[in-house]
Amino acid sequence: MIGGGHSSFIGIVHRIASYIGEEYKLVGGAFDTDHGRAIDFARSLELDTNRAYPNIDAFVSGETALPADERIEAVVVVTPNFLHYPMAKQLIEAGFHVICEKPVTNTAEEAIELEELVAKHNVVFALTHTYTGYPMVRQMKSMIANGIIGDIHKVDAQYYQGWINPVIHDKEKRKGVWRLDPAKAGQSCCMGDIGVHAFNMIEYTTGLKTEKVLADLNTLYEDNPLDIDGTAMLRLNNGIRGLVRASQIATSEENALQIAVYGSKGGLRWEQENPNYLYYLPEGGIQQVLKPGHDYNSEFAKVSTKMAPGHPEGIFDSMANLYSGAAKAIKGEDYIDGAFPTIRDGVRGMKFIEAVLASDKNGNSWTEIVD
Ligand SMILES: NC(=O)c1ccc[n+]([C@@H]2O[C@H](COP(=O)([O-])OP(=O)(O)OC[C@H]3O[C@@H](n4cnc5c(N)ncnc54)[C@H](O)[C@@H]3O)[C@@H](O)[C@H]2O)c1
Repeated sequence: MIGGGHSSFIGIVHRIASYIGEEYKLVGGAFDTDHGRAIDFARSLELDTNRAYPNIDAFVSGETALPADERIEAVVVVTPNFLHYPMAKQLIEAGFHVICEKPVTNTAEEAIELEELVAKHNVVFALTHTYTGYPMVRQMKSMIANGIIGDIHKVDAQYYQGWINPVIHDKEKRKGVWRLDPAKAGQSCCMGDIGVHAFNMIEYTTGLKTEKVLADLNTLYEDNPLDIDGTAMLRLNNGIRGLVRASQIATSEENALQIAVYGSKGGLRWEQENPNYLYYLPEGGIQQVLKPGHDYNSEFAKVSTKMAPGHPEGIFDSMANLYSGAAKAIKGEDYIDGAFPTIRDGVRGMKFIEAVLASDKNGNSWTEIVD
């Protein structure tokens, strides 16, 4: 694991998720910018402190010097955004499988380069768009693919948070937030951090591709360089209309990610804060709530569920499903398409972010996403 030490927010989700399927064991890493803290962290987890490396260079040289059967096989990158690309590149080139946080890189060009390197070095690259692992998201994907809601008319994905509201109005407080610093966050705050999840959910559940976007972003203050709120209209394949709404100043909202897909025969709606419920709205029929663990679900949703019906599964389980999918790929076993997001999703996400930024900059004009 690179990053993810005691001070990290998402590291614990990865550690727990990686253990749930019993396919991974954390052995070492470069857990922190401070080596002393990294060693303390390794000690607290009863890891070999010799494998708590001071930085990624020492990690790569230390691990590649070991005999192949002792060497770490897969590396998780959970550092701030600007480090994903250089770290992933270094790891792929050294032959490690990579599990990486989003946004995958700072630019689409970098993501394309990683895609080429993944193919060249024949490694697995999993991108942790965490929400794609929920059983009922996978059920939604299966139902759409099976034509249950007919031809799609409209797709609407929202990701609303409120955590920047208490920070953004005070210049001093803003300085302490790396997500508001272009040197660390990259080109975007809101769209890069959460809008990209909503975008990924649209392409993941529907299998559609976004062809162009028209975006309107908001920084709230002129001296805040990055977007903290925005809306993007999407034109998907066959002229289908879609919407990504993202905000970090939706005051007091928590992690209100929702996706709704409406078709000629019905609609489906899923909300991350109640992830075990999938709302099925059949045309002319009674609205239904589908839940995990039941035989009526698709094979994909069923293999993504560990508990009996009524025992809630949450974000750790969702992330664990991505880890299990990646483990199958690493071991060369068969896995269901969509079992984990790949570098392809990373390229699509970066192209979306760049198109949204360009659209906003160019007077909110329609901007193509060329693949
Ligand atoms: N998939 C999701 O739902 C989700 C949720 C939250 C965060 N994230 C992503 O995870 C990444 C990390 O976010 P976070 O909120 O956990 O950040 P954080 O600031 O809480 O943690 C970052 C960690 O990286 C470490 N670090 C920084 N530079 C390093 C270096 N050079 N070498 C080794 N370690 C280093 C820090 O010490 C810290 O432990 C971001 O890219 C973010 O977008 C994804």
